[in-house]
Amino acid sequence: MEVELAQELGFCSGVRRALRLLRKAAREYGNVVTLGDAVHNRQVVEELSGIGVKSIVSISEVDSQVVAVPSHGLSKQNLDEIRAMGLSIVDTTCPRVERAQRSAAGLVKAGFQVVVFGDIHHPEVEGILSWTHGKGRALRFPEEMAGIEGSLKSLGILSQTTQNIDAFAAFASKLVSMHLGTIEEVRVVNTICDATKKRQEAALELARKVDLMVVIGGYNSANTGRLAEVCASTGVETHHVEAAWELEAEQLKGKRIGISAGASTPDHVIRDVVVRLKNIES
Ligand code: F3S
Repeated sequence: MEVELAQELGFCSGVRRALRLLRKAAREYGNVVTLGDAVHNRQVVEELSGIGVKSIVSISEVDSQVVAVPSHGLSKQNLDEIRAMGLSIVDTTCPRVERAQRSAAGLVKAGFQVVVFGDIHHPEVEGILSWTHGKGRALRFPEEMAGIEGSLKSLGILSQTTQNIDAFAAFASKLVSMHLGTIEEVRVVNTICDATKKRQEAALELARKVDLMVVIGGYNSANTGRLAEVCASTGVETHHVEAAWELEAEQLKGKRIGISAGASTPDHVIRDVVVRLKNIES
């Protein structure tokens, strides 16, 4: 069995920064809560919980003087509510997510109707939309725009940071061409982050030359899910796993295996997978 790692995989700079800030906050305050998981990875969330950084799902559960904003950001309403409670905030929002939020706010201020290419149920997208003051919507397909054509004169299009660049380009181009009859002005802001793009390109390159891809990362991690989609799109057998123990020896023996990992997957989880693959081989 041959095992090859993608050129770019695992923790991105945004996640490393968030973890640095959270560990520092835990040392300083002892007890910190994050509204939603700090990053979308079970092992990281468990490790953080061990040092006093707990995840909560709603503001009503806050039992600390310090609330951390996750790397994928929060809605403006949530931030206002936390500030109104007089709590301290540790803001670990990734600068790339902040840029998407600012782009959305700027487009609305300039009079544009905003469309975010992404998953409406993802907290990052909810956060970005909250900066549009009701003048934005999230879509996964251009066809979902039906029903509001009448008001579409100025259209601003941006993306969830973890989407695929080609899918975003196809989405924006189709959306614009479907509504050219009513649109007077279009602005497209590429808010897909570099880390996402590089991990997808590296995974794609590797997927084209191996028999099977293992993509490691949280099942709730949008960027890991996208990596698995990108690999599978080449036709190669692709397995998305959260941890090494999920790998089944029978599926892997004698194959050339490529490994990729999402931006919130810790190095030690990737190492565990490599060790397990080597053990299967021997
Ligand atoms: Fe930020 Fe991109 Fe990572 S948005 S958290 S650098 S995947």
